Amino acid sequence: MSWLVTGGAGYIGAHVVAAMRAAGQDVVVLDDLSTGIEKRVAQVPLVVGSTLDRELVARTLREHRVRGVVHLAAKKAVEESVREPLSYYRENVEGLRCLLEAAASEGVDSFVFSSSAAVYGESDVEQVDERTQCRPINPYGRTKLIGEQMVADVAAATGLRYASLRYFNVAGCATPELADRGVSNLVPMVFQRLVQQQPPVIFGDDYSTHDGTCVRDFIHVQDIASAHAAAAAALAEGRITDLVANIGRGEGVSVREMIAVIREVTGTAGAEWSEPTVLDRRPGDPPRVVASAEVIEGALGWRASFGVREMVESAWAGWPRP
Ligand SMILES: NC(=O)c1ccc[n+]([C@@H]2O[C@H](COP(=O)([O-])OP(=O)(O)OC[C@H]3O[C@@H](n4cnc5c(N)ncnc54)[C@H](O)[C@@H]3O)[C@@H](O)[C@H]2O)c1
Repeated sequence: MSWLVTGGAGYIGAHVVAAMRAAGQDVVVLDDLSTGIEKRVAQVPLVVGSTLDRELVARTLREHRVRGVVHLAAKKAVEESVREPLSYYRENVEGLRCLLEAAASEGVDSFVFSSSAAVYGESDVEQVDERTQCRPINPYGRTKLIGEQMVADVAAATGLRYASLRYFNVAGCATPELADRGVSNLVPMVFQRLVQQQPPVIFGDDYSTHDGTCVRDFIHVQDIASAHAAAAAALAEGRITDLVANIGRGEGVSVREMIAVIREVTGTAGAEWSEPTVLDRRPGDPPRVVASAEVIEGALGWRASFGVREMVESAWAGWPRP
């Protein structure tokens, strides 16, 4: 059986492709290269195109005899989604709908959906578990929640087996070539400032958290990738049918604490210019989102194995030097 990985040339997708190949799966990638990088998936067939192109998707599924799909292709920047909601509804919702339509017509039986902690919105609990009510507070999070619901509805109608995996804050890389090249996530955003000898930026330090800055659950991208490989195998074997699960470490780290680790790892902690600057809050950032990771451990026997320092060190090793 082969797997189609949409968004496989992206940061997380390329790690998922590597983990699935290491687990012995045949993989083909569909990616429109809007943010993806072709070189990341040099080892596997790459079809350049969009999930919105139903005909292309159906042909790809047919030609590669695909029975399982891992769907990561999406837009992911919270702030941008507040400014440009319709492009998020097009790529993340309509893109998924087209993909599911093609998958149903071509006999795909297993589907892994890339969801996000953004579906929870502002929670008032120490740890969010999968029974915590989903109240996304930005268009990005709403597109992910709609996506989960769409996948579940299709599964109920067709018998599709699925796993919707809610990633928390992803960081790190397996090898420098697979590193995150975007700067919408905290770690690369801070690297970019530090290499320019500019202070890292904290968006708001007046949140109701222990140091006033947002608290997140950071998870190594290699852990995310191994969870996908485990979910794909369990779906293919019919061991799971309808999993919705957090992928996190269950440990809250504040933005200020994360910046302190980054300053240490980059060797800039002693420099005055590396002291963070505090700006206004960004629209759509909830104060605290930390996972309970019990459901995925129970379903797949998976748990995170990397810590925050390993995430930052690997990401720094993959950061392009002048
Ligand atoms: N990075 C995170 O912290 C994080 C957290 C939670 C969830 N996610 C989700 O993980 C997935 C991957 O994120 P990432 O960080 O690797 O981002 P990324 O931008 O590196 O990867 C997305 C990939 O999808 C491709 N793509 C986008 N729209 C497409 C379309 N319509 N058709 C085909 N390809 C398309 C892009 O070219 C890119 O290669 C996304 O669904 C994102 O919402 C990411």
